[in-house]
Amino acid sequence: MRKQIAAANWKMNCTYQQGEQLLDDILSANIALKEHQQTIFAVPFPYLIMAKSETENENNYFVAAQNCYNKKSGAYTGEVSVEMLQSIGIPFVVLGHSERREYFQESNKMLAEKVDLSLQYDITPIFCCGEPLNIREAGTQNSFVEVQLKESLFHLSEKDIKRVVIAYEPIWAIGTGKTASSEQAQEMHAHLRSVLAKQYGAAVADEISILYGGSVKANNAKELFSQPDVDGGLVGGASLNAAEFTTIISSLK
Ligand code: 13P
Repeated sequence: MRKQIAAANWKMNCTYQQGEQLLDDILSANIALKEHQQTIFAVPFPYLIMAKSETENENNYFVAAQNCYNKKSGAYTGEVSVEMLQSIGIPFVVLGHSERREYFQESNKMLAEKVDLSLQYDITPIFCCGEPLNIREAGTQNSFVEVQLKESLFHLSEKDIKRVVIAYEPIWAIGTGKTASSEQAQEMHAHLRSVLAKQYGAAVADEISILYGGSVKANNAKELFSQPDVDGGLVGGASLNAAEFTTIISSLK
């Protein structure tokens, strides 16, 4: 079975102390993850080492960075490289979140470079895609998301694409409380998997985890995750509340 993943995206929230307390509260719920299940905390850069040490002795609990730069190293004041992440043992990085695309002008091409660097340094990219509201209203979401995948991922070899986690996050559902219905999520996830299958074959597509993100909450996670092509979630707001997020973890297939 492909990996089923509950990923928390804290975005720019929590002080260090609040973050530490949140992790303590979630981990003290002692939810035992099965072999095919993972929980990942994407925390702000200054908290990576703390979060790593908090989760170190927990089975299948991991830490992710929320971004990295698309250059190896050098005179890029304020940026963080994948090599830096690797040097502190961070196994995942979220790439191409819609907030990065919108506020920091991240293009599909730049994201392809970030994906390449991450894989080169053995860090698993959690690659985000998803359409804005006007595209959904025009009914062209399938081709919109397909282009995001093609331009950032489809240069990868069969071996490398299997190392990528995809997160489908419709922008109109992020932070709005307006989640995609489980049918809408399943429809898009099945489409993404068919696009992957066309490029890499069905066996490869079948191995790739596709997470849903956009107003995932304790009360809708189970229904969303029960869809055959939804392999868990990338969770913003609800990941900042221990009770909410532990219920979401427990909703994994
Ligand atoms: P919300 O769960 O707050 O809608 O955020 C989703 C998201 O952007 C996760 O990356």
